[in-house]
Amino acid sequence: MTSNYSFPPGFVWGTATAAAQIEGATTEDNKSPSIWDTFAAKPGTTKDGLNPEVACDHYHLYKDDVALMAKLGIRHYRFSLAWTRLIPDGTGEINQAGFDYYNNLIDELIANDITPWCTFYHWDLPQVLEDKGGWRERSILDAFSSYAKIVVSTFGDRVKNWFTLNEIPGFIGHGYKLGLHAPGAKESSQVVNQAFHHAMVCHGIAVKTVRDLGGPDARVGLVHNPEIIVPFIETPEHIEAAKAVFAQINEHTLAPIYSGKYPDSYLERCGADAPRFTEEEMELISQPMDFLGLNVYRGHFVRVGADNKPEVLPLPKAFPRAEADWLNHVPQAMYWGLRFCHELYNPNEMLIAENGVGYHDAPGMPTTQEVIHGWTHPERDYDSEILDTHRCQYLRTYLQSVHRAIEEGIPLTGYFLWSLIDNFEWADGYTSRFGIVHTDFKTQRRTPKLSASWYSEVIRHNAVL
Ligand code: NOJ
Repeated sequence: MTSNYSFPPGFVWGTATAAAQIEGATTEDNKSPSIWDTFAAKPGTTKDGLNPEVACDHYHLYKDDVALMAKLGIRHYRFSLAWTRLIPDGTGEINQAGFDYYNNLIDELIANDITPWCTFYHWDLPQVLEDKGGWRERSILDAFSSYAKIVVSTFGDRVKNWFTLNEIPGFIGHGYKLGLHAPGAKESSQVVNQAFHHAMVCHGIAVKTVRDLGGPDARVGLVHNPEIIVPFIETPEHIEAAKAVFAQINEHTLAPIYSGKYPDSYLERCGADAPRFTEEEMELISQPMDFLGLNVYRGHFVRVGADNKPEVLPLPKAFPRAEADWLNHVPQAMYWGLRFCHELYNPNEMLIAENGVGYHDAPGMPTTQEVIHGWTHPERDYDSEILDTHRCQYLRTYLQSVHRAIEEGIPLTGYFLWSLIDNFEWADGYTSRFGIVHTDFKTQRRTPKLSASWYSEVIRHNAVL
């Protein structure tokens, strides 16, 4: 087998999920409500009023899901811990049932030769902490610190790869500024900026905790979701314009991590609403990481505009995008996101912590051609097979773009596909399906889609096929 898109030996191929999106069992075994349980219970917050109460019932079905991953040849798995299962009151007493659950999950992964990659925080803050101010208040730092300590000292003997917080600008922006995600708040800029800073400090606390308690071979990094700016035409002047916009819109997260300072330009933009911070906090934020994780889904085009300034191009309605309509199909975002991060911040290692695409996949679905030409084959069971050729097409082009970055010497060592199974897509409920495995939410039956067999082969051959 030859492919022009072979990957370096040892490249990490994985899949990713998050606790609140797959586990369900939201009230079982002493788990307390998270902000997502509370938010989704309010009318009008999620699509069709659906909530994470059952989701994929992974809490009970985790063994089957791990077996499925093993069968598909997936050897790396990124998952997150539910703080509400481990410390239901947010701080203080631990809940043994929660620890048993994650101990079992981790053991099951290892027994199946799957490396666990664990995220401390993927958006499901304990509601009890939100009631005390949540990310807005400085008290979150102590609460997070005790949570991080107990987690690393318990799981750190087996978990050697840690992701700190998932998409800080994402959960702060959507949750505290726009009110579209939990906890559904629309705070002033000052409060939003301060909440953002607290989350950044918690990232630093997580890094420090892994260093202190995770053992010498433990590795840790952030999961960031930069808005990726792509030069519409790949000539030096357009590349420079795109890089300038990329640097500016992502600087408030990446610059402090790599330089220990909020950039002056960011602080000036914030003006009187700038976050308050101490030297010690900035030191925590900027401790060296082992890798930078990037979630890459979409991109925005920039060109040099008429006045010689960078101009972001609006995308017409007909631009290819997923049914999750924010998700523009811009595969070059992979390459340019990695390249700009590399040029601006020089991380020693990068990983794609998430990439994938959401559609309303369902079994069957004859295409227009099939209807017109009668191309369906009666002997085939289209009712149980999910031919997500569209997802494969999307993933293939993004992976080719990853390959381009590696070819140019950018230190990218792994890729986690979002997601293993269709799951609770936050405010979009259950309609936007990101899985390479279909979940029937009534029966909990899992059916690998065509993309699952395709990805399996990609992993087996260590190449884009
Ligand atoms: C990023 C988030 O981390 C994940 O939770 C979400 O499901 C995907 N984007 C798809 O929207």
